[in-house]
This record gives sequence, C-alpha cells and structure tokens, in this order.
Amino acid sequence: MQLTVKELLTLSPLQQDVKINGWVRTFRSNRFIALNDGSTLQNMQCVIDFDQTSSEILKRITTGACIQVKGSLEESQGKGQKVELKVSDITILGDSDADTYPIQPKKHSLEFLRENAHLRVRTNTFAAVMRVRSVLAFAVHQYFQKNGFFYVNTPIITGSDAEGAGEMFRVTALDPKSPPLTKDGKIDYTEDFFGKETNLTVSGQLEAETYAMALGKVYTFGPTFRAENSNTSRHLAEFWMIEPEMAFYDLDANMDMAEDFIKYVVDYAVKNCAEDLTFLANRLLEEEKTKPQQERSELKLLDKLAFVVNNRFVRLTYTEAIEILRNSTPNKKKKFKYLIDEWGADLQSEHERFLVEKHFQCPVILFDYPAKIKAFYMRLNEDKKTVRAMDVLFPGIGEIVGGSQREERLDVLQQKIADLGIDEKELWWYLDLRRYGSAVHSGFGLGFERLVQFVTGMGNIRDVIPYPRTPKNAEF
Ligand code: 4AD
Ligand code: MG
Repeated sequence: MQLTVKELLTLSPLQQDVKINGWVRTFRSNRFIALNDGSTLQNMQCVIDFDQTSSEILKRITTGACIQVKGSLEESQGKGQKVELKVSDITILGDSDADTYPIQPKKHSLEFLRENAHLRVRTNTFAAVMRVRSVLAFAVHQYFQKNGFFYVNTPIITGSDAEGAGEMFRVTALDPKSPPLTKDGKIDYTEDFFGKETNLTVSGQLEAETYAMALGKVYTFGPTFRAENSNTSRHLAEFWMIEPEMAFYDLDANMDMAEDFIKYVVDYAVKNCAEDLTFLANRLLEEEKTKPQQERSELKLLDKLAFVVNNRFVRLTYTEAIEILRNSTPNKKKKFKYLIDEWGADLQSEHERFLVEKHFQCPVILFDYPAKIKAFYMRLNEDKKTVRAMDVLFPGIGEIVGGSQREERLDVLQQKIADLGIDEKELWWYLDLRRYGSAVHSGFGLGFERLVQFVTGMGNIRDVIPYPRTPKNAEF
C-alpha cells in the first residue's frame, strides 16, 4: 500500500506493511532517517536495522536523497513522534551529493534560499508557506462558488492600456534588431503579431465588468503584471490577483463583501492549516526576537489572524483619515517621510500603516478618496471632488485590497476620459456597457501574495510565491 506520510500518521491499526517515498532530511546514528514527502510538515521516522543494510546503501542515504522505504508501522519508542516505520527494505530512487546539496540540515537565511528557489520548498518554512498558499487559493474559489459567483478568465495579453494601474510589459513578436518602422521612424505595430500594441495585463477588471453585466456576480483569479520599479517587500512584477465584480452592488455592499470574503479565507486557513500555521507562528516569534523592540509586532501570528476574523474592520473616509494623520505625532514631529499637510495628498504605506497599526490597531477600510489620485472608472460623488473608492488596509501589509463602485453614467464617464486625454475609441467596448443596460456595479482587487504574506507572517513577498519576478530578477 502506498500512502503519504500524512496518511500514515493517522493509519490504524499499526503493524501494517506499508511503503513510502520521500526525501531524506537527516540520517543519524546510521539508524534513524527523517523522511519528508511534502504531504505534511512532519517527517516519518524510519528506523533501519544497521546489520541488515548493506554499507553500499547506508552510504547513499544522504540529506536530499530520494528513497523508497518499505516496512511496518510501529508505535515509536522514541520521543517526538507517535509512530515510526520499522524498515525492511530501502531503495535509493535518486542519489544526492551531500557535499554540494545546498539545503543542509541547518538554518539558512531567506536570502540564500531565494537564490535556491528551486530547492527551498524542501525546507519546512517554504513547504508550509506553499501548502498554506494552496489552501488559501482553494478557499478563494470556495467562497465565490458558494456565493453564486462565476469564475471568469480574462485575457493575459491585452490590447487595452487605459486601466492606468501601472507600467506595462510590452508583448511583441517583432524582431528587436530590426523592427518595421512607420514613416516618422516609430515602431510600426500594425506589422506586429496582433496588428496593434499589446501588453501583459495589469488587471482583469475592465473585462470582468463586461461579464458582471451579464452573469451578475463574477470573479477572476489570475496572474497580473506590473513593470513598476518597486523594490519593496510588498511588490512583485508578476503577482496573482483576485478580482470580484458585482452588478447591483454599491460601495457599501462592496465593502461588506470584501470584509466577509477576507474573513472567510483567513478563517478557512486557520481551520485547515493548523499545523503549518503553528510552525510559521513559531518561526515568526524567533525572527521577531532578532528585531529591535519597537519593530516587533505585539500580537502573535495566530492571535493576529483570529483578530481579523473576529473584529469588524474600521471604516472611515479619506477626509477623516487625513485629519487623523495631519494631527498625528509622527506628522507633527516630522517623522513621516512624506508629511501630510493638505487634503488631496496620496497616502503612502507609512501613513496606511500608522492608521492600522498605531491609531486603530485594527484592519481599516478607507473610502471616498479624492478623484485626482484614483482611476478614471471610479464613480464620482455628489461633491464632484471624491470618488467611491475603497482600500482595505492591513497590519504589516498596508493595502491588501483596492476597489470601487464603478462610474455607470455614460456622460460622466465620457467627461472623465476626455479630461484625462484618453482616446474614447480605445475604450469603445467599455463605454458600450454604459450604453446598453448600464447598472450600478462594484468590485475590487485582492493581491493574493499580500494575503498569503499576512496569513503566513512572511515579511517579504518574494517568499510567498514559488518564483518571484522582481526588478533585475527572473531566474528559474
Ligand atoms: O489597487 P490595485 O492597483 O487595483 C486594481 O488593479 C483594480 N483594477 C482592482 C479592481 O477594482 N478590480 O491592485 C489591487 C491589489 C492591491 O490592493 C494589492 O493588494 C495588489 O493588488 N497589488 C500588488 N501585489 C503585489 N505586487 C504588486 N506590484 C501589486 N500591485 C497591486
Ligand atoms: Mg490600489
């Protein structure tokens, strides 16, 4: 019978003959192999009979080697595990050179592991993070599917560049050495693969809106690309975004849904990833000890997750937030890098984190932002100065969600587009939604990696996606 370590740990009755495959984590005293197969954080302790095992095989049981063991599952004599495998037969499936294998059984820095991203998932930390990531992705789909949303796949290559969410990566099949040129010396994209300029998408929102205007409630969950040169612990050039879009939802309904959704997926992870999250909480505790006192988080990881699930997020307008920030100690003492002195200022992550971590000590939803600092498609308020935008701000993360009620009025939207100098023709299909059966609708985008960061407590976004894409880095 071939089972995973996870399955074996709860197998009953004992004394069954079983077989498992896995990778050797450690081999000590020529007797105890800690074998991990990725199914769980826990290793299976495999006990071999030294006298019955050839020295040839013993030599090849090295850290990183892949082996198959057969034997009987027994109650463990030692501490630390309930059951162990009394080995009757070992096959070496893949040797590992112990001298050069990068993942030695000792503590490695996250930087070192990033350089070895193809092997880092063989560590407890990364295996735990990636299992939690997988469970969270499932929870996302489950939430939407339970609540009447349809999953839509919006294009990754897009010919629309009017979203304005960020710098884009060009997609072209032209020869970079000698591209066709127009009369005035510019690259002639009519000769390109699609006959026009195309880019990797920065958001599936505009296309998702078209589907919400027919299917009612939809969501996307796919890769998103931004060519911003942001070398921070919260930005990736390629990340995964979840974008629900709902017909007949106004901003209040949108905020309610965002809050309900986040609580659901966090709670799902807490309930279904207890072992990995406990491990990650302890990892974080150790990491925090190395930080200066004032930078340490006051809540432990699991308490932080419970707090988010159990407390109502604070909601306030941008205008109220600006007042709080203007009068805050770090602003008065000039501790912020960007001082807040007037209404209209764009909020930086230092301001967002002040509100969430110091002032309210709670997740915060800010809404009704100045029109000037937000995208063209957000619905203009009566005051003509603010739009129905909302951002959900999280402790340690800053902005985790950005969304809005969309402008459904054709004339208002046309004016907005004209004011920004965008060519209406580029957005003909988007404007059509306002021509044919327009309706109040809203949606938002959740950065999946930021969610995984929050749930796992990992400080750097590069450590919650298998192969991070960041400026000057696309190895693997
Ligand atoms: O606030 P953003 O730019 O919103 C949009 O793209 C809208 N079209 C969403 C919508 O209304 N449907 O991005 C949404 C979220 C952010 O709140 C953040 O969590 C994440 O996407 N995000 C990033 N995550 C990682 N790396 C980056 N470079 C990110 N940029 C945005
Ligand atoms: Mg945003």
